[in-house]
Amino acid sequence: MDTAEIFETESLHTSGAYAKRPVALVRGEGAHVWDSEGREYIDCIAGHGVAILGHSHPDVVEAVKRQAETLMVAPESFYNDRRAELYSLLTPRLPGDLSRFFLCNSGAEAVEGAMKVSRFFTGRKKFVAAKWGFHGRTMGSLSATWNPRYRKPFEPLLTDVVHVPFDDLRAAEEVVDEETAAVIVEVVQGEGGVNPGSRGYFAGLRRICDERGALLIVDEVQTGFGRTGRWFASQHFDLVPDVMALGKGIGGGVPMGAVVWRESLGKLTPGAHGSTFGGNPLAAAASIATIGVLERDRLPERADRLGTWLLEELSRMDSPVVKEVRGLGLMVGIALRSRVTPILRRLMDLGVLALPAGPTVLRLLPPLVISEEDLERVVVAVRKAAAEP
Ligand SMILES: Cc1ncc(COP(=O)(O)O)c(C=O)c1O
Repeated sequence: MDTAEIFETESLHTSGAYAKRPVALVRGEGAHVWDSEGREYIDCIAGHGVAILGHSHPDVVEAVKRQAETLMVAPESFYNDRRAELYSLLTPRLPGDLSRFFLCNSGAEAVEGAMKVSRFFTGRKKFVAAKWGFHGRTMGSLSATWNPRYRKPFEPLLTDVVHVPFDDLRAAEEVVDEETAAVIVEVVQGEGGVNPGSRGYFAGLRRICDERGALLIVDEVQTGFGRTGRWFASQHFDLVPDVMALGKGIGGGVPMGAVVWRESLGKLTPGAHGSTFGGNPLAAAASIATIGVLERDRLPERADRLGTWLLEELSRMDSPVVKEVRGLGLMVGIALRSRVTPILRRLMDLGVLALPAGPTVLRLLPPLVISEEDLERVVVAVRKAAAEP
């Protein structure tokens, strides 16, 4: 198909749920993607943070090929070698005694699972979530998501969810009570504007949850697997959640999610939750390869180093539209005094793909394998694109 045919056919059938850019991506390698016209871009969207190893990483490709030839389908009603290997690789990298898993297929599913797990283990109903928090768009996860624009058309959602200001311990203190099943937060709010919480906030949430018998769910769907410069962003703050939601980078590009909780909470009972595709050996093999590369190439440490450099470079930018540069590791937000869309468009013209985090924040989520030269090019392009409103 040529570009016109792709646009025409997709437009005819697409759901309408996405505002599409007028570009058809057809190939990717490392931190680069190409469109149907052969134009090359540095990809700081990376599938909304999925492609942590870049596109088509050879180790992931090889693992998927090998597994596809061996066994693609093995329901959780049986044991499987790839799943077992994945559990034993992932557990030592997670904080505390997080070692019971439910494998699924996306971030929203992981959040749904985390919410169910919390109700299951506490017998309580209420959730406390943060304003500007984003946890997905299925009915349960949407109940925890804050943005009224996403929620309103689909109400009534879960009624037992209270949203309080993020990074405000006093506000949490007032609403977490003996009815609360769980508090759910991101360590760095992604979609909500790339806002990291503070050490005191997370320590306080941990204490409040312990005192009142509520569980602490940390949504690491976007921040997990090295993105912020640690394996998991919770580790920046020595935070041990009770339940963690994982997604995006976990499968190195293959759709996957996971709920993981503390061993001390116990196990679900048969039938309490389920997923036909969850834990399929193909995704597990991709995840094993991804973890192997993150470890071998020390990519979390690399994200820490490059992220510090990127934040410093961008903070030096002299632009009338830039209000603040913030982030953690290779999860960077540039808060603007104007709307982000024109700058995203200019960046695309300059050969860099970036994404918004709300209407006035530009977000960069490059693959953790991006070269230093490419990152320098990104800085130059951002400077140029932000030189005018
Ligand atoms: C923090 C967070 N939680 C959950 C989700 C939902 O993940 P998915 O789009 O895979 O359902 C996202 C997606 O952007 C996210 O950033």
